[in-house]
Amino acid sequence: MTVQDASTVGDLAGRIRPDFILGVAAAAFQIEGALTADGRGPSSWDAFAEKPGAIVDGHSPAVACDHYNRTDEDISLMQDLGVDSYRFSLSWPRIQPGGKGPINQQGLDFYDRLIDKLLKAGVSPMVTLFHWDTPLPLEHDGGWLNRATAERFAEYSAAAAHRFGDRVAQWVTLNEPVSVALQGYALGVHAPGRRLLFDALPAAHHQLLGHGLAVQALRAAGVAGTIGVANVHSPVSPASKRLGDGLMAKAFDLIFNRVYADPILLGRYPKPPLQVKPWFRALGKVREEDLKTIHQPLDFYGLNYYYPVKVASGRGGGGDGSAPVINPEMMAKLPFHLAAFPEYETTGFGWPVAPEHLGILLRELKDRYGDALPPLFITESGASFPEPEHTRGPVHDADRIRYLASHLGQALRATAPGGIADDVELLGYYVWTLLDNFEWAAGYSQRFGLVHVDFDTLERTPKDSYYWYQSLSKARRS
Ligand code: BGC
Repeated sequence: MTVQDASTVGDLAGRIRPDFILGVAAAAFQIEGALTADGRGPSSWDAFAEKPGAIVDGHSPAVACDHYNRTDEDISLMQDLGVDSYRFSLSWPRIQPGGKGPINQQGLDFYDRLIDKLLKAGVSPMVTLFHWDTPLPLEHDGGWLNRATAERFAEYSAAAAHRFGDRVAQWVTLNEPVSVALQGYALGVHAPGRRLLFDALPAAHHQLLGHGLAVQALRAAGVAGTIGVANVHSPVSPASKRLGDGLMAKAFDLIFNRVYADPILLGRYPKPPLQVKPWFRALGKVREEDLKTIHQPLDFYGLNYYYPVKVASGRGGGGDGSAPVINPEMMAKLPFHLAAFPEYETTGFGWPVAPEHLGILLRELKDRYGDALPPLFITESGASFPEPEHTRGPVHDADRIRYLASHLGQALRATAPGGIADDVELLGYYVWTLLDNFEWAAGYSQRFGLVHVDFDTLERTPKDSYYWYQSLSKARRS
């Protein structure tokens, strides 16, 4: 560790409250592999990954990190890291291969063992019920475009609650419903690869309904843990003072942030500006009682933060320079584009590294939702950087250490007394992610891990950032 890294440890450790949770996060499909083991059924992602051109260089998720067969090694890595909590997702098609009907006991058993081993290692489980791997039979019936999927999701959630409800500390219903609706159903760069643009909005509504029904199912099962949801947010600003940019920025804020947070926290969809009202037509027709179901009291709100967004009116397709690129061909059909942040360095994905926007975002969430905003976890924060596929020695990922130190630092400073969001109760911070893994459409080309994984040998090598996070975990207790 460099002198500078050591000083960030000292500084951050001094500002972490004793009850603040430090964790790492992951998702089943990205790490488990073993896609046909022990009765698991196929998911929307199994099918999508087989489509030519869908995944960078045709990378296959079949093995991923082989976490399914290497859980002991991975739990040891977490134990040595000294984190309090591990956020992971249950694979719905492992637990209920058909997406409805019979439960696969072997699937439940896998997570049962995982949870017990974590508890024995002193790492508390935070469980996400849905991190994008919809059972394929449900996808064939329309997936999240079909209202019935919300009900099926609640049934599967109840099965998980009955089996694990006594031991899970926190439950997260959905991970980033916006990513599924936008990248999966609107733009077609994720499973199921639909390109419906605004006609994808029912997939948003049905996920939100699934969230509400799942919260009810967890409460009815009497789970011991607390319950929340994980939404990704990007603070949005207009590229200029021009009216057109302002309007498009407002519309993008709705599409990306508020369509998901408003109904959950306030029980209503946001009112779109008149000029873009037709885009949101599908939401105008929703049943009033659905909004009541979606608006369940939550114990916490999970915030995934990666980057801010700047929006300009006019067609532009891809991001230019330091703006995220989503699907240039589909984005070109829209009357706005994402503009660059030339002032910021970028990650391996080309995302701007903008920690101060995390503070701005926390302030914005409190201003927007007031007392309706529950205590908050940062459920994901991290970055990919170009790193070698194979390594014989240490991996010096100073850029990741800087990224994590600045983002955690920003969150702690903003929420400390006198900080810009000191009325937000911040419960903890989860690094995305423990292991380099299957980064969805980017395959293995983007490495986000604290631990390097060689995808030929599956050997795990902790990076410098792992040792940095370990020092922080230790130092805050001393
Ligand atoms: C998702 C993760 C993903 C990460 C980096 C988040 O949107 O929840 O599954 O790996 O971003 O792209």
